[in-house]
Amino acid sequence: MKTLPPNLDPTRLPRHVACIMDGNGRWAQQRGLPRIAGHRQGARTLKDLVRCCKDWGIPTLTVYAFSTENWQRPLEEVSFLMRLFERLLHQELAELHQEGVRLQFLGDLGALPAPLQLQMHRATTETAHNQAVTFNVAVNYGSRLEITRACRHLAEQVQRGLLAPDDIDEASLEQHLYTGSLPGPDLLIRTSGEQRLSNYLLWQLAYAELYFTAALWPDFDRTAFAEALQAFQGRDRRFGRLSPVEQALPA
Ligand code: IPE
Ligand code: IPE
Ligand code: MG
Repeated sequence: MKTLPPNLDPTRLPRHVACIMDGNGRWAQQRGLPRIAGHRQGARTLKDLVRCCKDWGIPTLTVYAFSTENWQRPLEEVSFLMRLFERLLHQELAELHQEGVRLQFLGDLGALPAPLQLQMHRATTETAHNQAVTFNVAVNYGSRLEITRACRHLAEQVQRGLLAPDDIDEASLEQHLYTGSLPGPDLLIRTSGEQRLSNYLLWQLAYAELYFTAALWPDFDRTAFAEALQAFQGRDRRFGRLSPVEQALPA
């Protein structure tokens, strides 16, 4: 499936897909493996999904890798994840760069281990001008923290006399989110059967189509992704308006 599956309309693909990569632990547990084996396998799934977005012409992918709440997991798992992120960046950067992937990280990155921050910085600067796919990874990300931080930045500008309270609008608040001027996701996919947002992109998902699947993240392959895209193409995105057919009828 290098090319887009024939049942998908290339003119109606989402421009931006967000994923909550959930179910790694359960995938491992089902196989009698330690949870970390699930994270390792989940990373392989992610690698292929980035390539898939490139192959199928989806310009932006934003994935949830570690939440501000995930620090509450056992230290052993947290440390493994941090090392895994660092190792993956180290191993995959050259290839991602070669394929034209622009890597960016969203979240409170200053609280992450220093070697990981270094890899992230390197990945971001090296790939900054790539254009095939923008790949955003949310690490130590929490939407409430993100919005709070944006409000604080605006308040500071007001205090310094750079901004009047009346000038604060949706666009100016958005500028201070980690996602900046990036258009919001059209489609959110969450795997593992959970149907919640878990503090992910609360602002940005305001008009996204939500897709929940029972598949566990390590099993979420191209076929499963194609199904999600097909479901997306079957949705009627109204944005508060009527559908075009209804719009044409008398009220
Ligand atoms: C998602 O898988 C990955 C992270 C949160 C880092 P989980 O680790 O949450 O897997 P489950 O939900 O326990 O199966
Ligand atoms: C959300 O998954 C965070 C990531 C996928 C990184 P969780 O497994 O942490 O979410 P909850 O705890 O089930 O809501
Ligand atoms: Mg989970």
